[in-house]
Amino acid sequence: MSNSHVKFYSGENIPLELHKTRIVQKLNLVPIERRLEALYEGGFNTFGLKTTDIFLDMLTDSGTNAMSDNQLASMMRADDAYAGSQSFMRLHQAVKDVLDEQYFLPAHQGRAAENILACAYVRKGSLIPMNYHFTTALAHITEKGGQIVELLYPEAYKIKSTHPFKGNMNLEALEAYIQRHGKERIPFIRMEASTNLIGGQPFSIENFRAVRLIANKYGLRIVLDASLLGENAYLVKQREEEFKDTPLGEIIKIMTGLADVVYFSARKLSSSRGGGICTNDERIYKELEALVPLYEGFLTYGGISVREIEAMAVGLYETQDETVISQSPAFIAYLVNEAEKRGISMVTPAGVLGAHVNAMEVCKHIPQSQYPAGALGAAFFLISGVRGMERGSISNQRDEYGNETYADMELLRLAVPRRVFTLSQILYVLDRLTWLNDNRELIGGLKFVYEPPVLRFFMGRLAPVNDWPEKLMAKFHEDFGDSL
Ligand code: F0G
Repeated sequence: MSNSHVKFYSGENIPLELHKTRIVQKLNLVPIERRLEALYEGGFNTFGLKTTDIFLDMLTDSGTNAMSDNQLASMMRADDAYAGSQSFMRLHQAVKDVLDEQYFLPAHQGRAAENILACAYVRKGSLIPMNYHFTTALAHITEKGGQIVELLYPEAYKIKSTHPFKGNMNLEALEAYIQRHGKERIPFIRMEASTNLIGGQPFSIENFRAVRLIANKYGLRIVLDASLLGENAYLVKQREEEFKDTPLGEIIKIMTGLADVVYFSARKLSSSRGGGICTNDERIYKELEALVPLYEGFLTYGGISVREIEAMAVGLYETQDETVISQSPAFIAYLVNEAEKRGISMVTPAGVLGAHVNAMEVCKHIPQSQYPAGALGAAFFLISGVRGMERGSISNQRDEYGNETYADMELLRLAVPRRVFTLSQILYVLDRLTWLNDNRELIGGLKFVYEPPVLRFFMGRLAPVNDWPEKLMAKFHEDFGDSL
């Protein structure tokens, strides 16, 4: 069962919630003057904001998905033991049952798994082809002296598209790349489920099968980033004819079965904390095993609290449940489609994780050197109290010579974590986004005042290039009076 199975008499397409809320948290909607102060305090970077100043936190779904009653209950029976904990055995069983992988190495979160894989396989001069990078995966690979190449089809870079699988690997380009550089320099091919940075766009199983054939032909391994696997599997069910009647759990297994190594952030995949690496290949397991106690913790906890290990196990089973997985994509589709109707440029088709606003269009008067997506994120927080995340040039890293590498897309991501927000909150987001789009000329650029060398988007501090935030606030007062 999913939202799409319930039709309304009115004919309206409403993403009905298939859960009830039993624990609630009070939110703060502070006046716009305070929101402006908070922006200056946080360096015009939404990572610098505090939740006391935030109304709807749409920064990420990472560690912010709502937990189920069963997950919370499982945390009470956690078995604390440095080695051989029963909690870990339950998690290991869940990995076998849900991901169909026999060997499992826990890591404290997704990037820790990336670190272990990079330590084991990436050397100076290594080349890693992938459908698209994720920030932390790229940082770990380049830190070890490796390079990545992104091999999507041109359609993936089109903001407005009807292509159901923009995350597909460009098969011709992949084969040509392997032939040009030789398989010796390629430790693995990386496939990212629900390609995060291009708007949470999935790949098809047809495409993944073809990648597998190419990998087999050249004797290469495939590493699957499964952090957003549940959602990718859900969109396969929705959009790929062959799988329309296949249960979600089976689609997930078909996908993991095509990879040699599967790693994930449990902050996303299983609505808990933690992460891990799994495989069915004993040799791979042995290659990685020693790195876990070195960097993470003993093999039966890997830096994850036992309570979270229990929640992770239950969360993994729940990833097979369409009522759990469909809610976020359904809300995102609603938000994206309604925003498009109001003339706001959005990444289409709607993907997973969040709605993605096209800052290159909304802020087309702001040059990329003044970070249009960062500016849009700051402006949107100012006028709404809603915190999104910049996914554009600020999230890119400079090249080896220190030059800016402008992002392919300048996006403001408004994350919709699983089962957290209500539909009227989504309507509020839509309302304020429409107002901002109508007043977009008032948004100005940003400049760095502090730029850290690694993953600069986290700790970087920026400032507006002039007094545009004050002017935007004045217009807000003009139109909304004393409304928050
Ligand atoms: N891979 C993907 C596809 C991710 O989206 C993330 C995290 C990671 C790896 C790293 O996992 O955070 O547990 O270390 N994405 C978060 C986001 C941070 O907001 O999109 P982590």
